[in-house]
Amino acid sequence: MKNIRWEAEGINSYILEPVDGGLMPPFEPGAHVDVQLSPGLARSYSLVNDPAVRGYYEIAVHHAIDSRGGSRHIHEQWRVGEIFDISEPKNNFPMVEDASHTVMIAGGIGITPMLPMIARLERLGRSWELHYVAASPERAAYVDRLSEHDRVEIVYDGIPGGRRLDLKAICAAAPTDAHLYCCGPGGMLDAFVATNCDRPKGHAHIEYFSAETEVAAEGGYTLELAKSGRTITVEEGETMLDALLGAGIDIGFACAEGVCGTCEVKVLGGVPDHRDHFLTDEDKAANRSIMVCCSGSKTANLVLDL
Ligand code: FES
Repeated sequence: MKNIRWEAEGINSYILEPVDGGLMPPFEPGAHVDVQLSPGLARSYSLVNDPAVRGYYEIAVHHAIDSRGGSRHIHEQWRVGEIFDISEPKNNFPMVEDASHTVMIAGGIGITPMLPMIARLERLGRSWELHYVAASPERAAYVDRLSEHDRVEIVYDGIPGGRRLDLKAICAAAPTDAHLYCCGPGGMLDAFVATNCDRPKGHAHIEYFSAETEVAAEGGYTLELAKSGRTITVEEGETMLDALLGAGIDIGFACAEGVCGTCEVKVLGGVPDHRDHFLTDEDKAANRSIMVCCSGSKTANLVLDL
């Protein structure tokens, strides 16, 4: 890691360079990387820099008060020169580049995926606007970069006299064929969904940073692993991922709360109890795959392609 910069209260940015020099793999706006913090501890972070800049990646990390180890580890342990593994960029929040107009709505650390989107839209000469809410000026990251643009609205909702974003008005003002992107805390995403912005299907895009849904840890079912022929019992109090790791199954995961998509496994039989924010409603209804970090089973047995 090349550099650490204070961006706002509780938010640092980190510049990551390849150990052997050269270029980073290309990425599209909205992409993230999984950062391996220690054995068994990985976290996903959006790439913040302009995708046209290939010499480094920039990520930003909010030190969550209730951190389960990821952001606390980074804020407390990382120093310049730190060496660690990251994944190739993955994109669960891709941008439609030829939209007539793009509306971005961000809350808190949810601003991060919007920055490369803005860079790309500027390069393409596309029409866009950004609405960004933070608790206070001290907790608003990247305001210096954002203030270069006149299509940015920043509001503070945690100070005396502050106000909330008027999501209904933003949605109502957006052209019918605009694409809208929302990333921020769960309450904001729920409010965005409730505004029913998605006029033509697929024009409203959401990225969850952390789930507020409880993971399934009720246990009481078995996993049949079709490839290895093994059967594993998921006990009360453990997740499916806990049970798989405990049985020595090598399975990739990062967020461990159903938002990043890393732990997706094909389902061959049984009915999953989907608890994630990654699969679409259609995907969930089809029951073809499951996020094993957070989801459970509605049937006594679940057959997985493992
Ligand atoms: S590890 Fe992120 S969705 Fe399961």
